[in-house]
Amino acid sequence: MQDQLLRVSGLSAGTEDKPILQDVDLTVGAGQTHVLMGPNGAGKSTLGHVVMGDPTYIVSAGSIVFDGKDITEDSADKRSLAGIFLSYQAPVEVPGVPLYSYLRTITQKRPELKMTARKFRSRVGDIADQLDMNSSFLTRELNVGFSGGEKKKIEMLQLLLLQPKLAILDETDSGLDVDALSVVSRGIEAYRQDCDGALLIITHNTRILERLSVDRTHVMVQGRMVAEGPASLIDEIDAHGFEQFEHTGGEQQ
Ligand SMILES: Nc1ncnc2c1ncn2[C@@H]1O[C@H](COP(=O)(O)OP(=O)(O)OP(=O)(O)O)[C@@H](O)[C@H]1O
Ligand SMILES: [Mg+2]
Repeated sequence: MQDQLLRVSGLSAGTEDKPILQDVDLTVGAGQTHVLMGPNGAGKSTLGHVVMGDPTYIVSAGSIVFDGKDITEDSADKRSLAGIFLSYQAPVEVPGVPLYSYLRTITQKRPELKMTARKFRSRVGDIADQLDMNSSFLTRELNVGFSGGEKKKIEMLQLLLLQPKLAILDETDSGLDVDALSVVSRGIEAYRQDCDGALLIITHNTRILERLSVDRTHVMVQGRMVAEGPASLIDEIDAHGFEQFEHTGGEQQ
């Protein structure tokens, strides 16, 4: 399934009382980097959550195929084991669970990542160094009391440790200072190169994309995909905003 790692077809989804996504199509090839843009409230995070299997949302039509298997009905846990990773726009705090133990638990669930406690410690230490992360973070409770930028680095640490086949990064770059932004960009580059992983980057800030080679850009407005094109579409959006797409039913460049 080299050319179609993720295939979302005709997907409509929403909460019990609010339809959000309407007839969404999206295909991401293995190892490709895709960008999803769109105005606030368009449904970008919802799409990320629905692909990850968040039970808050109900799929009313369409399908999600990942790595050749229909996962539309699968639990988030199953999807995570299959190789999908979602970095949350607002990572949740988990009191009582130290970050290090959490990381050990999630890696032990994956047979392909089985390693000794010593190897694990050194691997986590290496990634923390790579991300310029203070090692005291590892003994603190998961996300509790961390600053916004620190939480994003913890998400990057999970990404590099888990090496998923597809990483959906939901505004991983928002609220980062210039140094943290460059650390996170380096983390994304490392994931691309070392794991040959595919990326779906949801962002409003095109700086994070400067160091990445983008294969495809998608634009969502009011729950629908309204345009798809090459990386140059990002510059067009930067220059002219989303208004140009607001009355279109779907454009392919
Ligand atoms: N759990 C929910 N309950 C009620 N409404 C929701 C829920 N999740 C999303 N929505 C609504 O669906 C719409 C799309 O939200 P979503 O968070 O997907 O937008 P977005 O494109 O990610 O926006 P932003 O760029 O601001 O992050 C919004 O109107 C939002 O209020
Ligand atoms: Mg969002």
